[in-house]
Amino acid sequence: MACRPAIASEPGMTAGTRFDRREMIGLGAAAVAAAAAGPLRAAPASHPFLWGAATAGHQVEGNNINADIWLLEQVKPTIFAEPSGDACDSLHRWREDVAIVKALGLNCYRFSVEWSRIEPAPGQFSQAWLDHYARIVDHCREQGLAPVVTFNHFTTPRWFAAAGGWENPDAPDLFARYCDRVARAMAAGISHALTFNEPNLALGGNWAIHPLSQAMRDAVAACCAAAAKASGSDRFSLLNAGDPAPMISGVVAAHVAARAAIRAVRSDLPIGMSLAIPDNVAVGADSGIERKRAEVYGPFFAVMDKDDFIGVQTYGRAFVGADRDVDPPADAPKRPGGGEWFPAAIGNVVRYAYKATGLPVMVTENGIDAADDSERERFIPEAVASVEAARHDGVPVLGYIHWSLLDNFEWMSGYGPKFGLVSVDRRTFKRTVKPSAKRLGAIARAGGVRAG
Ligand code: BGC
Repeated sequence: MACRPAIASEPGMTAGTRFDRREMIGLGAAAVAAAAAGPLRAAPASHPFLWGAATAGHQVEGNNINADIWLLEQVKPTIFAEPSGDACDSLHRWREDVAIVKALGLNCYRFSVEWSRIEPAPGQFSQAWLDHYARIVDHCREQGLAPVVTFNHFTTPRWFAAAGGWENPDAPDLFARYCDRVARAMAAGISHALTFNEPNLALGGNWAIHPLSQAMRDAVAACCAAAAKASGSDRFSLLNAGDPAPMISGVVAAHVAARAAIRAVRSDLPIGMSLAIPDNVAVGADSGIERKRAEVYGPFFAVMDKDDFIGVQTYGRAFVGADRDVDPPADAPKRPGGGEWFPAAIGNVVRYAYKATGLPVMVTENGIDAADDSERERFIPEAVASVEAARHDGVPVLGYIHWSLLDNFEWMSGYGPKFGLVSVDRRTFKRTVKPSAKRLGAIARAGGVRAG
């Protein structure tokens, strides 16, 4: 399936776009909370601006067999185009990945640790896997790269999903216990910690241009039911695909508990969470833009007041009508494949996130699904320039981390989409650096687009 995995409200999503991860998770939620604007904080002076590339464990490591999503890929019926299998074999080739980041001239590598490896059974922690991830952190440091570590990038252990996932009242404590172990193993070397990656996706689904069809909902339910059955459970619930109200309150509480657990280990480690935030544009006098923001980001902003920064992840603009997102204007600049071309979206999101939270902002993901790398090559300088303009206007931005380092397993869409700065041969795992990667590296070495 060649669908572009983007927030359903972003440009490029058409009625014909079928299953992708973001659609699956758009099952609706009612939580509404006001965005809490806290006191503005200056960016910590001690950190240089981070220029990075990102990966996530399940998408690149391979054979993540104890994870909830691995099981969903295997069951029948499944909503996954193909299984993740060996992925990019980064489990064995992570040194090569780090070496590429370094050789490009970047100074930061964002990756995630896999809970299902670290805690394969409840309360049973694997020192060997903790050591593995600690080695990546240490190696990044040796290479002069800042390791930005995500503690949860969607996947959880199968046992956790089979126990109700984030809807389980014990979830915050279970997550905090795991975060404590991870922090004790590697916090000393981590540059910035992210508790969660885009836990707000389900809420965004309420505003999608094209709501999930009943057929899609049924398919998701059937896949989760098959996973529950295979686990001997009656409920298999995962991030962004559970019952929204208990799931969101579980995640929010888990963020607070995890932050406390990590801080208890290392009080000066900057901690935040990454949210999926498109560049929302109000359409019409009755645009629901403020309601959308309150619903989709508000519950998270409300508990981020004690965070050190906010991670933003942006893949385009969303045009917000009265009750849901609408198509981009007909005269909007288009990509060859049809979606809107607007790399400057990230600059607007950086400004919005700072205004709404008062926190320093880190671009933890920004990118483009482009088989033709020349599109990405054009995208990057425009995106970076928009971030630089925000910085110039006083927004404290900690870094720009591109998604993704590698062409990888794009969740339900399998290996079709190409977000990578580096391609990966599906049989030999050979990495080939694309021109866009060199472009980003040149910008990083020059200290920015304006500087370069
Ligand atoms: C996710 C990544 C994903 C990317 C592109 C982000 O939402 O964090 O895991 O691959 O978008 O769809």
